[in-house]
Amino acid sequence: MPTTYDIVVIGTGPGGYVCAIKAAQLGLKTAVVEKRPNHGGTCVNVGCIPSKALLHATEMLAEAQHSFADLGIDVDQPKADLKKMLAHKDKTVEQNVKGLDFLFKKNKIDVFRGTGRIAGAGKVVVAGEDGKEETVEAKNIVIATGSDVAGIPGVDVKFDEKAIVSSTGALEFSKVPEKMIVVGGGVIGLELGSVWARLGTEVTVVEYLDTILGSMDGEVAKQFQRLLGKQGMTFHLGAKVTDVSKARKGAKVTFEPAKGGEAETIQADVVLVATGRRPVTEGLGLDEAGVETDERGRVKTDEHLRTNIPGIFAIGDVIAGPMLAHKAEEEGVAVAEMIAGQAGHVNYGVIPSVVYTSPEVASIGRTEEELKEAGIEYSAGKFPFTANGRARSMLHTDGFVKVLADKASDRILGVHILGFGAGEMIHEAAVLMEFGGSSEDLARTCHAHPTMSEAVKEAALAAFSKPIHS
Ligand code: NAI
Repeated sequence: MPTTYDIVVIGTGPGGYVCAIKAAQLGLKTAVVEKRPNHGGTCVNVGCIPSKALLHATEMLAEAQHSFADLGIDVDQPKADLKKMLAHKDKTVEQNVKGLDFLFKKNKIDVFRGTGRIAGAGKVVVAGEDGKEETVEAKNIVIATGSDVAGIPGVDVKFDEKAIVSSTGALEFSKVPEKMIVVGGGVIGLELGSVWARLGTEVTVVEYLDTILGSMDGEVAKQFQRLLGKQGMTFHLGAKVTDVSKARKGAKVTFEPAKGGEAETIQADVVLVATGRRPVTEGLGLDEAGVETDERGRVKTDEHLRTNIPGIFAIGDVIAGPMLAHKAEEEGVAVAEMIAGQAGHVNYGVIPSVVYTSPEVASIGRTEEELKEAGIEYSAGKFPFTANGRARSMLHTDGFVKVLADKASDRILGVHILGFGAGEMIHEAAVLMEFGGSSEDLARTCHAHPTMSEAVKEAALAAFSKPIHS
């Protein structure tokens, strides 16, 4: 008699593996299906984790090169050892992968290696690399197959992961390119562009919109672009890329003004195309199973993450919403809880977003632009890190904190931080917003002195009263 699982999760990225662990913790008989040799999906293998290893290493290099002397530390000119840096990245990935293997074992989760296809409600056929198929039966199926590089709509980009690369290739250059063109001034382009810029590459960003980080607060994006410019990055904004192709040496990019005009072609050793990601649904058997997708190919779900077919759920990048690992994790937990008969829930209004550059950019809730468009009256409080003692002591005075609160109720609607450690500080806003807190609540909460977080408190103070230190 084959085992019938309570839940089988297809895909073990942050959405899928968290869902599986939570389900097992809740006493459900759980299995996962994964086609990669390692668990962890894009995030652990070729995304969040390896990029953060390189971002940290190159940030330390930049500190040593540009700040040590001012801090009174005299070292010989620090240099990068790219081979060792890449080894550090690979080791970090390996440790995370091993951690997941351990967690699967600890939670007694069965692992099926291969590509999963839904063969009707309750059945997943797993095709192994050797071509053999086996059928896994489960009362509930969770689709957590994630996303892949989208390329540029209307442009035939031939990725060779050497001269024309996606984020995967941009984590692997065996030597530092002299010149790099980044197509897309979004999160991936700016993070990986930063890595190579700090290693000495001349980086040019070509972005369709009139701003980088289009979904972020406009004021933050503007000041951030100025800082990246000071770090040596060049920007072509309002520029629509119409061709990316190999050149005799490296690759070239053709773009034209988004509003119309003459095209321009530029060349570099490498071109990183980072123009977004698309959901992965190929080979999943969605049509045969009758699972509906939307106009962008994402699996359609209701507010309980259910597809239109009973017993089939979907989470993470393969459904609507921001393509963020932590959003997928929250959905994974919620689905496991719902399948176990509990009340799983994701608060989509409180999902932080962090760009791990230097300085970091972090944001939660609504931007000023969104509030204006929605006609919501708000008060804004701002505080610059130049007026923060801790920031001055660490030579990290770039950036500011902005707190947006409802004009009538003072409830916090959004917090935006550009500055050193922004990705950690944003979470005090997240907790407060989960509890519907006000800018006065935040401003009256005692913050340790001297900390960067005092700037968050001061910005909150500025939103409902007056800041003390500026
Ligand atoms: P993105 O959506 O953040 O940025 C893509 C950019 O490309 C946009 O600004 C868009 O206007 C531009 N673009 C599109 N077509 C273009 C064209 N023809 N010419 C010029 N520019 C064009 O996508 P990205 O950076 O590829 O990231 C993919 C996903 O991964 C995002 O959802 C992102 O949030 C997520 N991610 C998150 C990270 C984080 O949270 N730290 C890190 C890396 C990725």
